[in-house]
Amino acid sequence: MGEHPESILKDGCIPGAERCFDLPEENKKSSINTDERMGTYTRILFSFLKSNTFTKFLEDLSGIPNLLPDPHFRGSGLHFTATGGSLDIHADFNRHPGNNLDRCVNVFIYLNDHWPEEYGDHGHPEPSQAPDGRARRSIALYYYTNGRPSDECLDNDCSGQGHSTLFQKPVGCEKCLDDTCRRDDTIGSPVWVSTTKIR
Ligand SMILES: [Fe+2]
Repeated sequence: MGEHPESILKDGCIPGAERCFDLPEENKKSSINTDERMGTYTRILFSFLKSNTFTKFLEDLSGIPNLLPDPHFRGSGLHFTATGGSLDIHADFNRHPGNNLDRCVNVFIYLNDHWPEEYGDHGHPEPSQAPDGRARRSIALYYYTNGRPSDECLDNDCSGQGHSTLFQKPVGCEKCLDDTCRRDDTIGSPVWVSTTKIR
């Protein structure tokens, strides 16, 4: 997948993108979610990542049996974030919007040549510092199961409705850097807190 800096627009939307995100919590991001819009080698890679061999590897790695890849690319696929784009800390949507299966495993592959740390790392509530024309490029895949163990659900009750992406604002700081931020489940619904004031 070559880089085409001239095709990355200021708002982060790229030609051929199926979705362009321009929200306070997720911005300057494009996604491609249909394999017929992808190049041949990318399609071959996705085929492997959804194969029996790789799915079995993930089951062994995670200890979660009967994982299902998603041929529909709901929320997954190719992601591009332009310079200045950011993605707030969040909990992912937990049920497949089409078939209500339970989302259990995420796989991300980052495809950026020469990407020094100062451009911004993989989780990025801080805006990307990459030079204009360089997009943070990633492949995302999500794997599902039909139901999940009750101890993974609030009050051991998994019967509730699924939720969409739950963005969280850090408490005690304007922005949250990865190494100062942690999840705190002790005060009602989970929040992300920092002990370090930033800016
Ligand atoms: Fe996510």
